[in-house]
Amino acid sequence: TERTLVLVKPDGVSRGLTGAILARVEAKGYRLAALEQLTPGRELLAEHYAEHEGKPFYEPLLEFMASGPVVAAIFEGERVIEAFRSLAGATDPTVAAPGTIRGDFGRDWGLKVQQNLVHGSDSPESAEREIAIWFSA
Ligand code: GTP
Ligand code: MG
Repeated sequence: TERTLVLVKPDGVSRGLTGAILARVEAKGYRLAALEQLTPGRELLAEHYAEHEGKPFYEPLLEFMASGPVVAAIFEGERVIEAFRSLAGATDPTVAAPGTIRGDFGRDWGLKVQQNLVHGSDSPESAEREIAIWFSA
C-alpha cells in the first residue's frame, strides 16, 4: 500500500497545530504508520530539499526548517500521496483554499510562502526517498 511522508514544519509545531493537522489525515481514513519529532540538521535538510538547491529561497528555507522541532509522520493507504496534497492545499497559505490545512491555519507572516505548515511527498518515488531520509534508523 502507498505511503507518504508528512512533515509538520516548525511554524505548525510551535503554534501547537500538530494534533489538529494529523487528526485531519487520520479522520480522512489514512493510517498513521510512524511518528517522530526532531529538530533537523542542515545535512538532513539539504538531502530532503536537494531539488531546490540554488533557488533563491533555498537558504532561507533551510534556515527556517532548522529553526525548531519538526514532526515527521508516515501515513499509508490507497492514493494517500494525492490525498494529503489535497488536504494541504496550495503552497501559498494566503490564497490556499479554505478547508485545506494551509488555507485554514496559514497566512503570510513576512516570509512569503515559506511558513506553510506542512510538507507532503509529491510522488511514490519522492515518498520512499524522503521516508528513508527522515526515518533512517
Ligand atoms: P507544493 O507547492 O504544493 O508542491 O508544496 P511544496 O511544499 O512541495 O512546495 P515546493 O516543493 O515547491 O517548495 C518547497 C517549499 O519551499 C515550500 O513548501 C515552501 O515552504 C518553500 N518555497 C517554495 N517556493 C518558495 C518561494 O517562492 N519563496 C519562499 N520563501 N519559499 C518558497
Ligand atoms: Mg515539493
